[in-house]
Amino acid sequence: MKNYTTIHNIKDFSSTIKETIELKKNPFLFSELGKHKTLVMLFFNSSLRTRLSTEKAAKHLGMDVMVLNVNDAWNLEFEDGTVMNLNNSEHIKEAAGVISQYADIIAVRAFPTLKNKQKDASEHVITSFLKYSSVPIISMESATAHPLQALADAITVEEFKTKERPKVVLSWAPHPKALPQAVANSFVEMMQNRDVDFSVTHPEGYELNPEIVKNVPVNYNQEEALKDADFVYVKNWSSYSDYGQILSQDNNWMLTKEKLGQAKFMHCLPVRRNVVVEDAVLDSDQSVVLQQANNRTFAAQIVLKKILEEL
Ligand code: CP
Repeated sequence: MKNYTTIHNIKDFSSTIKETIELKKNPFLFSELGKHKTLVMLFFNSSLRTRLSTEKAAKHLGMDVMVLNVNDAWNLEFEDGTVMNLNNSEHIKEAAGVISQYADIIAVRAFPTLKNKQKDASEHVITSFLKYSSVPIISMESATAHPLQALADAITVEEFKTKERPKVVLSWAPHPKALPQAVANSFVEMMQNRDVDFSVTHPEGYELNPEIVKNVPVNYNQEEALKDADFVYVKNWSSYSDYGQILSQDNNWMLTKEKLGQAKFMHCLPVRRNVVVEDAVLDSDQSVVLQQANNRTFAAQIVLKKILEEL
């Protein structure tokens, strides 16, 4: 693997997931692979899981890890040909080139603006790192995608499924803040590549990018959509058509124990209790959010392993 910025960098989903489940049994098996190699993790935005799980994954492989909260460094300029006489002190061309001198792999987290749809769709941060770095790039969540999360999600479904082709439903839920579509986008793309009965449910106006959703069934009736589900993945996202807007905070869309039925509950976390999902779900045995978060380590580890093998 050269880079991991989209789930489509994975050649074979089934074998990668199988390999990851094996790796979990013996996480230090390849602890020599990353010896004397450095992962630099760059955070333009906050993180708990991605930061800790990716560092843990790198350490399982024997790598050294350096972390930079980019907001503590010089303000970066991304436009070409700009006269840099305002606030931005360093151009991405130099910054990415310099970081490549210190890193064997660079991992980047950069959220969308949720204001400028075109700019977010261009993925200007991750694309600039791909263009100006001389080492592989991993996305730790970009403007439109969260491929490490989606890989962990697919591993979790595989581990907990009790039938060959489980019913998996992605359900929108209310949230007080405008959130990106990235997690939902990558989960939709991942489920399209798995042997599952997959559908999405959300209120009208919350349609995701149709180029991502393609022919996945969408149901505006949550109760109907969740019937007989094996997995309910709950996530808020802001409107894509009315870009970045909160159109509804209707708490009838919060997931309750009654609506969950016999399904397993999934969420990428962090989650707002009793807004997105009620306590009774999170505190029940049907919630697999901690196991899902644990799988973030092994999703990152398999990606790092595949990149290190090609260095
Ligand atoms: N799910 C996820 O990416 O968590 P963090 O934002 O805490 O990294």
